[in-house]
Amino acid sequence: MNNFERFPVRTGQEPPAIKRHHTPRYYAHRVRESLTTRVSKLICAIFLIILLVVGIVFFILWLSLRPHRPRIFIQDFSVPGLGQPNGFENALITFNVTARNSNQHIGFHYDNVEGSVYYKDQRIGYIPLLDPFYQEPKNTTIMYGVLSGATLTVNSQRWMEFLNDRTQGTVIFRLDITSNIQFKVSTWDSKRHRMHASCAVGVGTDGSILASYRNKRCPVYFT
Ligand SMILES: *[C@@H]1O[C@H](CO)[C@@H](O)[C@H](O)[C@H]1NC(C)=O
Ligand SMILES: *[C@@H]1O[C@H](CO)[C@@H](O)[C@H](O)[C@H]1NC(C)=O
Repeated sequence: MNNFERFPVRTGQEPPAIKRHHTPRYYAHRVRESLTTRVSKLICAIFLIILLVVGIVFFILWLSLRPHRPRIFIQDFSVPGLGQPNGFENALITFNVTARNSNQHIGFHYDNVEGSVYYKDQRIGYIPLLDPFYQEPKNTTIMYGVLSGATLTVNSQRWMEFLNDRTQGTVIFRLDITSNIQFKVSTWDSKRHRMHASCAVGVGTDGSILASYRNKRCPVYFT
């Protein structure tokens, strides 16, 4: 085995020798190159910092402008004549709901606000509650309704069902508050959103709201 076989045989010209002593031009070039990388690094850093600052500003804006949906609470609900066997003849339901705008900077334009009362998913009453109004940030508006006569459709059979539930201690109703809402940020108005608040409410044997349902927040959803 010949040692020379491991090395390629050189036939053509010798490759250029590695430069050990660099020319001034070479150094100038290197300095220029490192300058360019430094400048581009700097530009990159400045760009990233600007991006970060803009991001933080938008995050803060978003935090302060982030719209909270209306907070609807059931304050009171009562069916005063619930104890009477023939109560359906002059049946009465009263309720009191508060709607809070908890936003700092966002107002709500409400269209007409309507209240409906359901019993076992059947609507037994309907009443217009409020005309269109603008709700300022941090405002709480009371929505109070009285259902009787034409606004309440309770026949004797339905009333018997109430009385039947009453013997168990609780009659469960559902109060729905609906409206269309536009969010107002400064001078900009969003499009209209259909709002539904759905309040489950139980009344006791005396026809007044049970403590466990009072001051409860009603789920609000939009369609
Ligand atoms: C409705 O409830 C609110 C809050 O509890 C109360 O301030 C207001 O007086 C009530 N209104 C009526 C008419 O009951
Ligand atoms: C909330 O707004 C309503 C409707 O504009 C107004 O009548 C009521 O006084 C306001 N409430 C408060 C606490 O500012």
